[in-house]
Amino acid sequence: MSFYVTTPIYYVNAAPHLGHAYTTIAADVMARHHRQRGEDVFFLTGTDEHGEPVALAAEAAGVTPRELADKNAERFKALAPVLNVTNDFFIRTSDPEHVKAVQEVLTKVKDNGYVELGLYEGWYCPRCADFKSESEIVDGNRCPIHLIELTWEQEENYFFKLSKLQERLEQLYEEQPGFVTPSSRRNEALSFIKSGLNDVSLTRGKLTWGVPVPWDESQVFYVWFDALLNYYTALTYARPGEDLRDEFWPAQRHLIAKDILKFHCVFWPALLMAADLPLPKNVFVHGYLLLEGHKMSKSLGNVLDPFEVIDKFGADALRFYLLRDVSFGQDGAVSTEDFEKRYESELANDYGNLASRTIKMLLRYRDGAVPQVELDRAVAAEFDGLVDRVSAQVGDAELTAALEDIWVRVRRLNAYVGEQEPWKLSKDPERAADLDRVLATLAEGIRVVTVLLHAWIPERADRLLGALGVDGLDGTDTAPALAIATASFGAAVPTQVTDIDPLFPKQQPAPAA
Ligand code: ME8
Ligand code: MG
Repeated sequence: MSFYVTTPIYYVNAAPHLGHAYTTIAADVMARHHRQRGEDVFFLTGTDEHGEPVALAAEAAGVTPRELADKNAERFKALAPVLNVTNDFFIRTSDPEHVKAVQEVLTKVKDNGYVELGLYEGWYCPRCADFKSESEIVDGNRCPIHLIELTWEQEENYFFKLSKLQERLEQLYEEQPGFVTPSSRRNEALSFIKSGLNDVSLTRGKLTWGVPVPWDESQVFYVWFDALLNYYTALTYARPGEDLRDEFWPAQRHLIAKDILKFHCVFWPALLMAADLPLPKNVFVHGYLLLEGHKMSKSLGNVLDPFEVIDKFGADALRFYLLRDVSFGQDGAVSTEDFEKRYESELANDYGNLASRTIKMLLRYRDGAVPQVELDRAVAAEFDGLVDRVSAQVGDAELTAALEDIWVRVRRLNAYVGEQEPWKLSKDPERAADLDRVLATLAEGIRVVTVLLHAWIPERADRLLGALGVDGLDGTDTAPALAIATASFGAAVPTQVTDIDPLFPKQQPAPAA
């Protein structure tokens, strides 16, 4: 089995922010989980470097587009290790290999009869690099996303004959109901298609920062067609000497937010159809992270810095919070206050404390040796089917539901400690067998939830599994101790634990200002 997952490629017109981190983290959780399943995974992210969004920002900054792209692409690249993200390649659309492959595919689209010269006239948002229809604009002539005034553009350029593909797109949505998920997004895309598709500009004449059109030197390709093709072109050169398309095309999943739904759910499959290329299995459209009710964006300026959060709490805490607090797929507000609450109540208390207490009790009462006895049947029963459910949920991109399913077991283990009161059992020599069972059950329960949580909190999970004495960890997702089958309860009861510092230490309150 192979699994190819992508994030959008981000514009290099500004520095990365939490919204970018969000999609990249989500893709990483999927990539890591699928590796635990033993699948061959390819995980792609990168930067979108051409077109007006970048050309205009460069002009404003008094640098060339390439200078701006080089500077900001490095910042996006640097985000991956900070987030502890395991992308297999980082594509930049200014890569010469990408440029060449885009020219080849789009020439094929032209040869197949999907390109035509025409006159474009209409409203255009240079920040979205998007032509807006009358129904999409707000306040007369403003962009609904950036709230800036749109420009009226008029130029002769080549069009992509999107209208010719309307029927085939409708058929795709019919035959492959999981092409776009969640279903509300599928409905949105389908009704856009059914409302009638117009041809779209494939090239731009006024711009020079882009992929040159091979059959007309006065034009460059409209940035969206160049950008969308990254998902395909990357496979042609990510590993020198290898053609990864054989194994990984078509992609299993493109992850995006709803701002770029039209491009991925309508233009992208149409473009692939026009180029005779196989279509991806799924586009998953997640919602917006909202800060004080607004979508975070560079132009609105209300940006929470992922680097700062990670500096203080670690990448795992951010990864967990974003996928826990906002139901993946929906919009949700995020704030420092909510973050700190969840960090304290769930990571520090529910999980971190459970682990510390259990390890400390094992050290105190049993010299760290985990009794190899029959586990508590009632607790075991509550883990029944968990691995399969979590696998199915992650397979469907239901990352928050999967996390909740795991967390129910974390809470159950805490309740078990409260019910069994092992510190009391320890005082009664006649109840030594009960204490053995409770300690072994806790150690195994913690191991199981930790193997499952690894995709979300890889660093701390590895640390805890190490303290549980689990063999077969090598710092990668494909370590034998992380294989998904080992996450079934009772599969690999730990034998000897060692002490551990608090996994998610409580923060000192900030000094009053
Ligand atoms: O659109 N909440 O790039 P971009 C959730 N280059 N996700 C968010 C977010 C928020 N507040 N803000 C950004 C582009 N994102 C194009 C894409 S793909 C072929 C070309 C994430 O820099 C989310 O994934 O504007 C969104 O779709 C993407 O960043 C937009 O990034
Ligand atoms: Mg954007």
